[in-house]
Amino acid sequence: MNFDFTGRTLLLTGAAGGIGREIAKLFHTAGANLVLADLNEDALQEVAAGLGEGPGRILCRATNGADPEDIAATVGAAVDTFGGLDFVVPAAGIYPERDVEDMSDDEWRLVQSINLDGVFYLLKRVIPHLADNAAIVNFASVAGHRGSRSHAHYAASKAGIIALTRSLAMELGSRARVNAVSPGTIETPMTIGLIRDRGESMLANTPLGRNGRPSEVASVVGFLCSDAASFITGETVHVNGGLFMAG
Ligand SMILES: NC(=O)c1ccc[n+]([C@@H]2O[C@H](COP(=O)([O-])OP(=O)(O)OC[C@H]3O[C@@H](n4cnc5c(N)ncnc54)[C@H](O)[C@@H]3O)[C@@H](O)[C@H]2O)c1
Repeated sequence: MNFDFTGRTLLLTGAAGGIGREIAKLFHTAGANLVLADLNEDALQEVAAGLGEGPGRILCRATNGADPEDIAATVGAAVDTFGGLDFVVPAAGIYPERDVEDMSDDEWRLVQSINLDGVFYLLKRVIPHLADNAAIVNFASVAGHRGSRSHAHYAASKAGIIALTRSLAMELGSRARVNAVSPGTIETPMTIGLIRDRGESMLANTPLGRNGRPSEVASVVGFLCSDAASFITGETVHVNGGLFMAG
């Protein structure tokens, strides 16, 4: 993909994850400054090292995406280092498995705190620092549209992301475009168990006949941040090989 984000700045959470790494790579190749945040500091350093630098263009921040103070510190460091923010992509997330009947209150709360509360904490704090022509791309999931057996906490958090995306798009108007990507089954560390246990039946219902690659999500994030998507806001783009077709 040939995007040109030279001199513009991306703040990405979940940057050490399967999809996050590909987003970091795409934006780095396109010339952007990167603020890479993740809970896993070692993996974050490995991602940055793999990008081959571009001196001064990468800031790594170990950040708990569920902690408002940690997030505020990372936003502050990003602004101090690069000035305003052009692109914000909260990709951090967890996907535990548990039936509702067996789920503890703490398990429910943990998923909401990272997947939904953390996105609110971040987006609220970046708004004053958004540059002109800024774009936010949130992470929904097919689970947020149709539900997901044994992942009700995850599905509910992602349904919340879709509503947050639309609401913030209305509030920010022309100040920034706010969209979401909604992946189906993408091969990353998050889906190893899912693919092992339910992979075959999901593939049988996927018209493209395969799981997705992280780069195929990153390219849609790049598109949504680019001027090619200049009239798109409040939208959720499915990246699922046809596994779920929205009405
Ligand atoms: N892989 C898929 O099939 C799929 C499908 C739908 C949606 N998604 C969404 O895409 C996004 C990226 O997922 P992925 O597949 O790359 O998963 P992944 O497990 O590979 O990466 C998730 C990253 O989030 C980080 N993280 C977890 N908790 C954190 C916290 N409290 N603070 C900061 N970072 C934290 C992890 O360290 C990890 O690097 C997630 O929001 C996920 O819900 C993925």
